[in-house]
Amino acid sequence: MKIALLGYGKMGKIIEKIALDRKHEIVLTTSQENLHDLTQENLQKADVAIEFSTPSTVLGNIEACFKAGLPVVVGTTGWHHETAQMKEQCAYHKGALLYATNFSVGVNIFFHVNKMLAKLMNNYPYYDVQVEEIHHTQKLDSPSGTAITIAEGIIDNLEAKAGWVNVLTTDDAADDANIPVDQLLIESLRIENVPGTHTVIYDSEVDTIEFKHTAHNRNGFALGAVLAAEWIQGKKGFYSVEDMFDFNK
Ligand SMILES: NC(=O)c1ccc[n+]([C@@H]2O[C@H](COP(=O)([O-])OP(=O)(O)OC[C@H]3O[C@@H](n4cnc5c(N)ncnc54)[C@H](O)[C@@H]3O)[C@@H](O)[C@H]2O)c1
Repeated sequence: MKIALLGYGKMGKIIEKIALDRKHEIVLTTSQENLHDLTQENLQKADVAIEFSTPSTVLGNIEACFKAGLPVVVGTTGWHHETAQMKEQCAYHKGALLYATNFSVGVNIFFHVNKMLAKLMNNYPYYDVQVEEIHHTQKLDSPSGTAITIAEGIIDNLEAKAGWVNVLTTDDAADDANIPVDQLLIESLRIENVPGTHTVIYDSEVDTIEFKHTAHNRNGFALGAVLAAEWIQGKKGFYSVEDMFDFNK
């Protein structure tokens, strides 16, 4: 498979290595330094694009792929307000896109169990719930795309919560006093040199249940993105990673 890598930072470089290990070829890499290489002609040399750039550049890159007729796997986060618009664009161009806020197998198992747990907790309304995410200080968006997916999984399944509110903090003491009870608190902590951590916390007067995922490195995200690029070959439409990891089978 011939791959175009749009975004050649920390993730792009690991994806390149894993793609080469899986006998794929990298025919184009773009980053802030060589934006002039993002032409229709260059994109059409590839079978698929993998996009890990920045929240402010992802939409332009997706549109370039649609116009070039190139399927695109998107890992960049921080554009969740634009998903409806990009679904329309995908349909208009008869394109193919797979988006995941998190490509790791472990996190996708976590997403699945998180929904089941939220459904179960409807029977125990004396527990309140919150989400905590911890990332490195260079991360551009907050809350993380992964935390938003976790929050949506809770809101869709737990009657007590109707929306989410993010509090960004540098210590472990977010002030949640002003958050309405029907809103789910997402506490985003930014700390130097930490791996990404997501915890769902159900707290009552008598005990606390914590459900936690910790990423040890970025390899799991990169492998999932390459698997998605293999999976999307020959498909049309707007997919989420749940279409690839079908846990209901
Ligand atoms: N979905 C997942 O599993 C997952 C996992 C890790 C990171 N991410 C997300 O992926 C994105 C990238 O993460 P990273 O750690 O590689 O960031 P990074 O800052 O290391 O790299 C970003 C790259 O994008 C490049 N860039 C800037 N403008 C561009 C443009 N117009 N076209 C192409 N490239 C451009 C930069 O030059 C840089 O090389 C972030 O949004 C991050 O949150 C997603």
